[in-house]
Amino acid sequence: MKDLFVTRSVDDLIDETENGDEKLRRSIGPVALTALGVGAIIGTGIFVVIGEGAKLAGPSLFLAFILAALTCAFSALSYAELASSVPVSGSAYTFSYATLGEFVAFIIGWDLILEYGVSVAAVAVGWGGNVNEFLKATFGYELPKAISTSPSEGGVINIPAVVIVLAISILLTLGTRESARANAVMVVIKILILIFFIIVAFTAFNAGHFDPFAPVGFGGIASAAGVIFFAYIGFDAVTTASEESKNPGRDLPIAVIGSLVISTILYVLVAIAAVGVAPVKTLSGSDAPLAAALNEGAGIPWAGGLLAAGALIAITSVVLVIMYGQTRIFFAMCRDGLLPRKLAKVHPRYGTPARLTLGFGVLIAILAALVPLDEIVKLVNIGTLFAFVLVNIGVIVLRRTKPDMKRPFRVPLSPVLPIIGILLCGYLIVQLPWETWVRFVVWLIIGLIIYFSYSIRHSRVRTGAKVDPSLDEKAATTPDEKA
Ligand code: ALA
Repeated sequence: MKDLFVTRSVDDLIDETENGDEKLRRSIGPVALTALGVGAIIGTGIFVVIGEGAKLAGPSLFLAFILAALTCAFSALSYAELASSVPVSGSAYTFSYATLGEFVAFIIGWDLILEYGVSVAAVAVGWGGNVNEFLKATFGYELPKAISTSPSEGGVINIPAVVIVLAISILLTLGTRESARANAVMVVIKILILIFFIIVAFTAFNAGHFDPFAPVGFGGIASAAGVIFFAYIGFDAVTTASEESKNPGRDLPIAVIGSLVISTILYVLVAIAAVGVAPVKTLSGSDAPLAAALNEGAGIPWAGGLLAAGALIAITSVVLVIMYGQTRIFFAMCRDGLLPRKLAKVHPRYGTPARLTLGFGVLIAILAALVPLDEIVKLVNIGTLFAFVLVNIGVIVLRRTKPDMKRPFRVPLSPVLPIIGILLCGYLIVQLPWETWVRFVVWLIIGLIIYFSYSIRHSRVRTGAKVDPSLDEKAATTPDEKA
């Protein structure tokens, strides 16, 4: 049984990234890394899922944002400690391979497919909703329901969601350098759009909308937090790019915590402004709630169009960074032999794992075409919360098993803060419906079957196989590299 916990050595991993033939250039500084985080965070959550949050919490919506942010904050500290101590790409998957062993690493890697891969589908559905809002506000025209919503919402297929997923997959297949510049521009635009929203909404603020403040009490706020937690997912994506960071010990914690702080401040202000400008009904009844709030609440129709356009740009960057993170983690799992190595083959001309990227693109596009947003969001949330729990546990365990490991960043007051992190994540998991739990357990069981039937026999650590030269890490330049 002990064999299940075979680890890769931290020193070897770091050595591989610093001296190996497959060395990545350490070219990203703290600002670009933070931009990568914000690029992954601000998207469908604040522009779309906020409507579902408003429905559950009522005017006290901003408290749900604070509760979800707190849950993330404790886990962010744990991510920062692990990422600064094991600065190799691949996020929680790689940290745990180096420290907690292969079995836990596989489970985390498999679980991260929910956080990254499946969330791209959710984010893409949010993108589709904003396409319609944009068309309506600008041209007075909407796409027919049949081609813009999933079957369970009365449509047939969600074409806009498919289009964005496939377009980004192709972009990532062709190369990441161009995507990096695009990401930086998109991050600036989305921050400006949210600031614009806050300012305009505050000019038409009606304090009366806050009464009754919490119609269903704290329970409503907690369920809303379980759902809008989605809006914060992505700060951990920074750690998929650790290997390209110039000074990981200092910059990764700055970027993880910095991107979370920036998003939290914007989100809480947006939540207060949104309820102030439009009644909760307006927010909860729209596919593009912020746009609807300005349209109806402030009576500024062009503002709605502008906001929908901003949301499209914002969400595009989320799709880009999260999809990139997914391919990077999956790539690492294939290279380690836990999943078929031939899937991660690097395209000779483009230098990217083309097969993997396009394969994921197609699967995610199918999911986005057919499944409604709120179902996917809950599944993504449970997967992510579970990953956060494991990362917090990782910090506590490692402080005992490897007390002398170099830790450029240390979670203060460990194990108290990681334990609070675990409890908060557990609390939000409990808020999710049982159907979501069942789906999650089925997903983990499929993973276990793959692990015991395939991975355990092909794992590179066990077989001692060398890295296949065709799995060149050139594939792994980050979207922000050289931006
Ligand atoms: N946090 C990301 C979003 O809101 C997943 O779109």
